[in-house]
Amino acid sequence: MRSVTSGAGVALLRGNLLQRFLPQKPWTQALFIQLSSVLLIACVSPAVINSVFVFELRSLGLHLEQGLFWLCVHLAIVSLLAKAFAMPVWWRWIHVIFPLAVTLMQTLALPASVYLGGFVITIALYWSVHKTRVPFYPSFPATWRAMHHLLEQMAGDQSLRVLDIGSGLGDVSLFLAKQRPHDQLSGIEIAPLPWLISYLRATFSGAPVTFTLGDYHQLDFATQDVVFAYLSPAVMMDVWHKVCREMPAGSRFISSEFPVPGVTAEHIIYPGAHAPTLYVYCMA
Ligand SMILES: C[S@@+](CC[C@H](N)C(=O)[O-])C[C@H]1O[C@@H](n2cnc3c(N)ncnc32)[C@H](O)[C@@H]1O
Repeated sequence: MRSVTSGAGVALLRGNLLQRFLPQKPWTQALFIQLSSVLLIACVSPAVINSVFVFELRSLGLHLEQGLFWLCVHLAIVSLLAKAFAMPVWWRWIHVIFPLAVTLMQTLALPASVYLGGFVITIALYWSVHKTRVPFYPSFPATWRAMHHLLEQMAGDQSLRVLDIGSGLGDVSLFLAKQRPHDQLSGIEIAPLPWLISYLRATFSGAPVTFTLGDYHQLDFATQDVVFAYLSPAVMMDVWHKVCREMPAGSRFISSEFPVPGVTAEHIIYPGAHAPTLYVYCMA
């Protein structure tokens, strides 16, 4: 019993200490973990490489002076630290994949302009994802078809005002524009690159869709019959409050993949084997 109590006490103390001294945001924790491991290895490796163990380990096939060995040590350290800091599992994978990717890219010896180009594209694609917590990823054709089917059921030939909040490349609205050209379709997107692509697609195809570059928080949903969202679980409650405040009775809020926590959807639609579920909420 005593050992259980003292074990719990140590865990609590360790948890408190970690909470107190460690950076709080996941990305700062990740940086801290990677840097700690690199510093530790930089301090320890010269002594280890010059020690007598080197010759003994070499006979066992372990070459301590090779970068690959220290890369493996680094991966082991960062994995252990990420686990000790109780980071989510996907962060632990990032800790392993990132140093491997850096090593691989170094062996490719690409010109610096490639990295600059990659950086600019990443910024333009993901923009303020650190604030919005909604990254870009496209929806599926089965989702677009299910949306079309839903709008047909809702209004038949009558015109609807449909807004895609976080419209990405514009796939949903552009598909709907082909099927239901009489609807008033629009999308709003915060990241410049997806917005630009959606804007050019609409312009060159002549599709009657308006794509705006901006934050959906700045839009009033009161004029919409349908608001479609494919965002992330992190923002569903916030969106729901806005939807409830602004959308008129009888209008629909449709969320792909992410339900509103604690709110029962009017319909749940399964568009296909590989497409996420659609949650349809009717405004009272
Ligand atoms: C998962 S993608 C969905 C793209 C598109 N709706 C589709 O179905 O293919 C979510 C998009 O929402 C955008 N986004 C996130 N927060 C936003 C905000 N506050 N205002 C406008 N767009 C936002 C992101 O930049 C991203 O492109």
